[in-house]
Amino acid sequence: HHTSQLRDDKLLQICHLLRDNIDYYDWVGFYFRNGDKEELILGPYAGEPTDHTVIPFGKGICGQVAVSNQNFVVPDVTAQDNYIACSITVKSEIVVPLFVDGANIGQIDIDSNLIDAFDEADERFLEFVNNGIAKLF
Ligand code: SME
Repeated sequence: HHTSQLRDDKLLQICHLLRDNIDYYDWVGFYFRNGDKEELILGPYAGEPTDHTVIPFGKGICGQVAVSNQNFVVPDVTAQDNYIACSITVKSEIVVPLFVDGANIGQIDIDSNLIDAFDEADERFLEFVNNGIAKLF
């Protein structure tokens, strides 16, 4: 029902809405599964551009969530061995999968320049956001 352009416009607005209104959300973006391939492609985002526009399943926090189907909260990115650094200013990260009709089609990824920025309230909030976004698909 939504064209992908209209959907991407909305996703970009959501990225900016979250980044502009929550002070510890410094980078907000979406990654989506690339068809049947076992890789993620960067979607709409707000914040510094990243070199990591393609992430293989299993690589980094995002790639692990693509496989686990579970939220991943990282209080201290320097303590993670399977981590892809996008910016040296980032201290903590949260990734919450996006399910459409039960399938993990992608994720919302948020980086913070604050250590240990994310808690259960962020998980519940981002699950709520993703549930709303699922209706665009
Ligand atoms: N840090 C992520 C990569 C994406 S950047 O944060 C935008 C990871 O380890 O998967």
